Amino acid sequence: MKKILITGGAGFIGSHVVRLFVNKYPDYQIYNLDKLTYAGNLENLKDIEKSPNYHFIKGDIVDAKFIDKLFQENRFEGVIHLAAESHVDRSITDPLEFIYTNIVGTVNLLNAFKQVWKGDLDGKKFYHISTDEVYGTLGETGSFTEKTPYDPHSPYSASKASSDHLVRAYHDTFGLPVVISNCSNNYGPNQFPEKLLPLFIHNIKNNKPLPVYGKGLNTRDWLYVEDHASAIDLIFHRGKSGETYNIGGNNEWKNIDLILKLCGIMDKKLGRTPGTSEKLVTFVKDRAGHDLRYAIDSSKLQAELDWNPSVNFEQGLEKTVDWYLSNEAWLENVTSGDYQKYYEEQYGKREIREIRH
Ligand code: NAD
Ligand code: TYD
Repeated sequence: MKKILITGGAGFIGSHVVRLFVNKYPDYQIYNLDKLTYAGNLENLKDIEKSPNYHFIKGDIVDAKFIDKLFQENRFEGVIHLAAESHVDRSITDPLEFIYTNIVGTVNLLNAFKQVWKGDLDGKKFYHISTDEVYGTLGETGSFTEKTPYDPHSPYSASKASSDHLVRAYHDTFGLPVVISNCSNNYGPNQFPEKLLPLFIHNIKNNKPLPVYGKGLNTRDWLYVEDHASAIDLIFHRGKSGETYNIGGNNEWKNIDLILKLCGIMDKKLGRTPGTSEKLVTFVKDRAGHDLRYAIDSSKLQAELDWNPSVNFEQGLEKTVDWYLSNEAWLENVTSGDYQKYYEEQYGKREIREIRH
């Protein structure tokens, strides 16, 4: 395969996938299609932007005419589709944007791919990147397998579930060679500071309250972003058409335990007395429809494609903190302007339930 389209390549995970493919596969031409929403930032790709096999296209996957023309002109043999609205809290405030980008945008890509390759699908692949949140929520035990029925609760996860169903429908109905993966929470450099870890690193550094939803007892499984990128590489090349693969870190944390651990690392890095940063913990009104626990069984991926996470969580978390502390300009840049308004709307009026200390 030569011409590969990666959508959402200026975002958090997409930028790591683009970097991996551009550096690892000099024979491929990598096209990064991104609308550059608030979450997309070309700074994330500064180190590879001049590579001869890298091309950036600014555009919106919701624009069907534009997408059709792009595919007709470029005839991408492979698609890795990451572009999405990705933040649960934003989906609660403004669901419609999630419906357009995550559902309509995905169908536009499927239609354009189908139109260009009908009758000539050999060696082509459409890879859709999804989330473990489509499976809903778990109790204290158990984990999601590829056979767990879908049961999404937020507008974000419902829109991702819908797009997953449509991708499968295009496989079953039109014979498109598709593959889907569902991954747990990613962490690492370049994540927009509206998600838990970069937001809390930013707030701790600036001595701002840490808004913990509910009692902080919700559990997430955390995977270093480069390990997700390496799984995407494997699945893109060796994943079987029509199959789904779960990706996870086997690394579950209750939010409050993770936050206290982060506070400890930040105290050390900032030269603060141990226990200083955790005084910033503030319990606020819970997120509506907040899923209690996610846990991923990725044994299929391990058994069939021999994938395993390579980054140890202690090291990954320290590396992540170091990155944000030494990339202040990046953080300042993305937290100026619209971010201030978002923060005020999201947290300014959020009811405080308890301050920890
Ligand atoms: P992100 O929000 O950081 O990046 C999304 C990117 O998509 C941005 O660059 C944005 O500009 C672009 N985009 C948004 N709307 C677009 C449109 N209409 N047209 C073209 N580009 C558009 O997201 P992320 O965290 O990197 O997530 C990437 C993908 O991985 C998403 O599909 C998400 O559902 C999935 N995922 C994320 C996680 C996670 O923990 N972050 C976990 C599992 C799956
Ligand atoms: P988030 O990073 O938004 O990822 P997701 O909702 O997709 O799992 O949130 C991770 C967890 O942290 C989730 O249980 C919600 C919680 N959380 C807070 O307690 N406070 C916050 O300010 C944010 C953004 C998240």
